[in-house]
Amino acid sequence: MADLTTTYMGLHLKNPIIIASCGFTDSVAEIQKLEEQGAAAVVLKSLFEEQILMDVDEQRVNNIYGTYADVESYVSFYTKKRRLDDYLKLIRESKAQTSIPIIASINCVSDAQWVEFAGKIQEAGADALELNMFIMPSDETFTGGQIEQIYFDVVKRVKAQTSLPVALKISYFFSGMANFAIRLSDTGISALVLFNRFFNPDIDLETGQIVSSHLYSSPEENSMVLRWTGILSGKVHCDLAATTGIHNGQSAIKNLLMGARAVQISSVIYKKGIPVVGQILREMEEWMDRKGYASLREVIGLMSQQNLSRPMMVERAQFMKYFADV
Ligand SMILES: Cc1cc2nc3c(=O)[nH]c(=O)nc-3n(C[C@H](O)[C@H](O)[C@H](O)COP(=O)(O)O)c2cc1C
Repeated sequence: MADLTTTYMGLHLKNPIIIASCGFTDSVAEIQKLEEQGAAAVVLKSLFEEQILMDVDEQRVNNIYGTYADVESYVSFYTKKRRLDDYLKLIRESKAQTSIPIIASINCVSDAQWVEFAGKIQEAGADALELNMFIMPSDETFTGGQIEQIYFDVVKRVKAQTSLPVALKISYFFSGMANFAIRLSDTGISALVLFNRFFNPDIDLETGQIVSSHLYSSPEENSMVLRWTGILSGKVHCDLAATTGIHNGQSAIKNLLMGARAVQISSVIYKKGIPVVGQILREMEEWMDRKGYASLREVIGLMSQQNLSRPMMVERAQFMKYFADV
């Protein structure tokens, strides 16, 4: 049987399947079921900086990016503390009742309100911390460089609070993606997670309401992740994890071939149930045995851009072959 072990963020994983931050990683009972099916690690459901601030806003004492005045600060403190206590309890209990690495997650848009929590997350026993950062580049007064700087500020302040390995889960909305990813990897982070997936707006034509489109990913969405994993592998100075659209063992293998050291899955679990984790692992083993790979170490990065004889195949976005044929 093929050896599926890998290392990611300095953690030794029994295989490369990590359960991405989602509703399934919000309870110890579900995490135990995921572990039983073979999950190698979980990223806990995010503690949302935005969610916390919005809760305060609902009580009409603050707005999402505002500063807290005297009376308001009590409410904001209470709201944060309550959520944080629940979160720390989730970390402690999942560490006590499972034997897989537990990666905490914070969804953030600034370096201000939450960075002190990183130290508490470490005290609670988390093995690592993933930061899901997304700043929508919709504010016309912000340049790309200013937005990028927020990422560097956040990493610096979080690294000052904790010695845990830190991963950054980023989006693809960067004009100089390769340059930015390499500079981020030089900040001391342990991994980049490619890519965040967003709930995009859609319109319900009958009700005239804005609704959320496609809650769950489709396999086709993995193509962009594959490309960028292949381009960045070997260039960044940290590990890569791939996420979005990985729905079966074959897709997981492709992302590993491009250079990911681990893959993160969630939509397929919503669609097919927790046992799909075991199925994905069996599909990976079957492919490796059939192809004669004894260990995942032989597979990871084998087809990254720098290892290809025709590296342009990963980069060319136009229909070069198809234009010639049709
Ligand atoms: C219902 C649901 C809840 C999610 N919640 C979070 C979250 O709290 N934090 C986060 O970083 N990502 C969250 N995600 C995104 C997933 O972690 C993952 O990156 C994304 O869904 C792409 O992987 P997939 O194609 O396997 O679903 C969520 C996804 C789903 C479907």
